Amino acid sequence: MNKISSRIPNFYNLSIEQRINKISEIFSLNQNEIDLLKNNSIDLDIADKMIENAIGTFSLPIGLGLNFLINGKDYIVPMVVEEPSVIAAASSAAKIIRQAGGFKATSTESMMIGQIQVVNCDFEKAKKIIIEQKDVLINIANNSEPKMKERGGGAKDLEVRILGNENEYPYCKMLVIHLLIDTCDAMGANLINTMCEAVSPYIEEITGGKVYLRILSNFTDKRLAKAEVKIPYELFDNKNYKGKDVVEGIIQAQNFAYLDTYRATTHNKGILNGIDPVVIATGNDWRAIEAGIHAYACKNGHYRSLTKWYKDNQDNLIGELELPMAVGIVGGATKIHPLAQLCLKILGVKSARELAEVIVCVGLAQNLSAIKSLATEGIQKGHMALHARNVAASAGAKGDLVNIIAKELVKLNEIKIDKAKSLLKEYSIK
Ligand code: MEV
Repeated sequence: MNKISSRIPNFYNLSIEQRINKISEIFSLNQNEIDLLKNNSIDLDIADKMIENAIGTFSLPIGLGLNFLINGKDYIVPMVVEEPSVIAAASSAAKIIRQAGGFKATSTESMMIGQIQVVNCDFEKAKKIIIEQKDVLINIANNSEPKMKERGGGAKDLEVRILGNENEYPYCKMLVIHLLIDTCDAMGANLINTMCEAVSPYIEEITGGKVYLRILSNFTDKRLAKAEVKIPYELFDNKNYKGKDVVEGIIQAQNFAYLDTYRATTHNKGILNGIDPVVIATGNDWRAIEAGIHAYACKNGHYRSLTKWYKDNQDNLIGELELPMAVGIVGGATKIHPLAQLCLKILGVKSARELAEVIVCVGLAQNLSAIKSLATEGIQKGHMALHARNVAASAGAKGDLVNIIAKELVKLNEIKIDKAKSLLKEYSIK
C-alpha cells in the first residue's frame, strides 16, 4: 500500500533547508543521503570512473515535481533541470489531472532491437538461412549474456530486412537483422551490443556475407510507454477564462502542432522539458531518449506533435502521449551515481516499466501546462515571474534579497539585469 502523498501544499514557499527536512522525513533519508542533497555533487573518484579525462563535476538543481497521481499511486518526481518554470508547470498540470482522477499509464515489455548489418551476399538466400537458423542465433546471443536469460529476459526473436536498391541512391543493398531482446529492468545498451557482436561470426559463416555494424537501435518502437488523461472542462474554469474556452485553445494548439513542423518541434520540446529532467535525475541516457522520441514523432513520414489532445462528446478534454522509453533502474549511471540512486528511492518505482510510465506522464503534464498557458494568457507572464529570480541572482542579489528584488522587477514589469542592479544598489543603501 502506497502511503506517500505527492500533495505537499506550500512546498514552494519553504526554504531549501526546510524542503530537504520535509523530504527526509517522508522518505526516512539517512545522513549520507541528506549530505548528498546538500553538497549536490559526486565524488571526484566516481566522476573519474564514469568518463575519461575527467577534471571535475558539473551540478544542476534537483527539484521535485508534485501532485502526480498515476494508476492510483502517488509519485514525488525528482527532476534535474536548469530552466525556471518547468517544475512549477509540471506540478500545476499534475494538480489539475489529479482532481480528474489522475493519469492512466501503461507500457509494453522492455523489448529492444539490436541491429546487425550484412553486405556482399545473396540477400534473399541469406534471409532464408537466417530465418531457418533463428533458434541457433538466439541461443548464441543468450549464451553471451546468461544472467539476463536467468532473469526472464534476453534475446527472444529476430527479424530480417533487406534494405536499399541498386538503382537508387545510395545504389546498394544490404541485409539487416534485428535481434529482439527483452532487457527487463536495464536500459540494456551494453548487453544488446554484446549480443549483436556474439552472433556476427556465425552470421558471416552461414550467409557468406560480411558483417559491418553491430549496435542497438535507439528507435525503440517495441519499448513504449503511454499516458492518458481525461479532464472535465470545469477544472479549467478560472477568473479570467471559461473552462470550455481553455479546452478549445488546447485543441487549437494540438492541431497547430500536428499540421506544422515548426510548431511541432517546439511543442515536442515542451514535452521533453518534462521528460529529460526525470531521465537525467534517474541516471539514464537522455540522448538516447531524445533520439528515439524525435524519430517516433515522424514515424508516419512527417514530423508531428507527439501528444493527442481532443474532446469527447461531453466536452471532457482527453490527452494521450505514447513514446518509446528505454530507461532502466539497474546498471550504468543509475547504479554508479549516488544521486540517481537517491532520486529512484524518492520516486519509488519498482521496475523500468514503472519508471517509463511515470516519465511519459510527466511529459504529458508538461505539455498540457505549456499549451494551456500559450492558448490563454501567454507563456511570458508566469515564465518571467520565475525568471526574475534568476535575473536578481545574476545581478548579485543574495539570500532574501533575491525574492525581494525579483518581486519588485515583476511589479515594475521590467525583468532586466540593469534594473535588478539598480534596485540592488537602492536596497544596499537602505
Ligand atoms: C519552453 O521551454 C517550452 C515551450 O516553448 C513549449 C511549447 O511551446 O509548447 C513553452
